[in-house]
Amino acid sequence: MSTPSLSTLPIRRLSLRDLSACADLSQDRGWPREDHKWGLLLSAGRGYGIDDPAGDGLIAACVVTEYGPQERPGLGAIGMVLVAERHARKGLGRRLMQYVIEGAGTTPLTLHATPNGRPLYEQLGFKTTGRAEMVRGRFTPGGPLPEVTTRSANAEDLPAIIRLDNEVFGLDRTHMITRLPAFVDQLRVAEADGAITGYAGAWPNMETYVIGPLIARDTETAKALISSLAAGSDRPLRTDIDVRHEELLAWVKERGLEPIAFNAVMTHGIPELPGDWTRRFAPLTVAAG
Ligand SMILES: CC(C)(COP(=O)(O)OP(=O)(O)OC[C@H]1O[C@@H](n2cnc3c(N)ncnc32)[C@H](O)[C@@H]1OP(=O)(O)O)[C@@H](O)C(=O)NCCC(=O)NCCS
Repeated sequence: MSTPSLSTLPIRRLSLRDLSACADLSQDRGWPREDHKWGLLLSAGRGYGIDDPAGDGLIAACVVTEYGPQERPGLGAIGMVLVAERHARKGLGRRLMQYVIEGAGTTPLTLHATPNGRPLYEQLGFKTTGRAEMVRGRFTPGGPLPEVTTRSANAEDLPAIIRLDNEVFGLDRTHMITRLPAFVDQLRVAEADGAITGYAGAWPNMETYVIGPLIARDTETAKALISSLAAGSDRPLRTDIDVRHEELLAWVKERGLEPIAFNAVMTHGIPELPGDWTRRFAPLTVAAG
């Protein structure tokens, strides 16, 4: 039997049943397996994949998470764009991306591009609108403590967190935020005069502890949230900070985190991301915005 051309292989929707195949694909590309993250993305977003015609599992995948009204999303965040190493450079990545772009219609799209993925996204009309710096390392407490009160979030805080998130992200993310209590290890809020001025989550990803989302009124509030989350884990921290937040980046580096990589923030169909970047310090994950 002849092998069908890769360019005609069907693209199918992925479900939570595909979680371990997705993690295998991550591993195949030298990425961490990230089962926990795949689980969130496959339930809050929509996964798409291509199967090996020889029956050897999933050979390409990506996930799209939409925000805003369900019937008319304001933004789709694309992530986990992966093609099995043995099928690299045969057009699968382009095919999957073209499929997602066509499916999105007039919905604007965004993604965080690795240097590997960027040329492809540029060819497909994505423009770089910003950058995020990935930092990682053991957090050393110390230095002047920010005078900001933080505490563990509870169920009653959820409506206020969703309101703040909506204001800062610029679009409704209720379907993602309501999943956070089950997804993250810790969810903390910052308070001033009885109002929530910031919130952040921390979740386990392989051997690291990822801080995100991180939304805060100002840099001091962001520092207080990071310090309080770091106190709850022995693992190295990891987060992806918008490079415009220079003061926070300098501070996390003073506290022991090291730069790992820069990702380009790209958009398709809008010149800039909606919302208020000044209060948006780190995404939940670069794969979901
Ligand atoms: C990035 C990735 C998804 C591309 O998938 P792919 O199926 O190999 O790519 P395609 O064959 O569709 O190539 C599309 C174009 O992307 C560019 N491209 C792909 N791989 C490239 C590489 N290693 N170096 C430079 N350009 C590359 C080329 O311009 C290519 O077009 P061309 O072959 O006509 O020159 C794949 O390399 C991958 O899974 N990489 C590891 C994970 C990753 O970095 N994902 C991106 C996350 S943002």
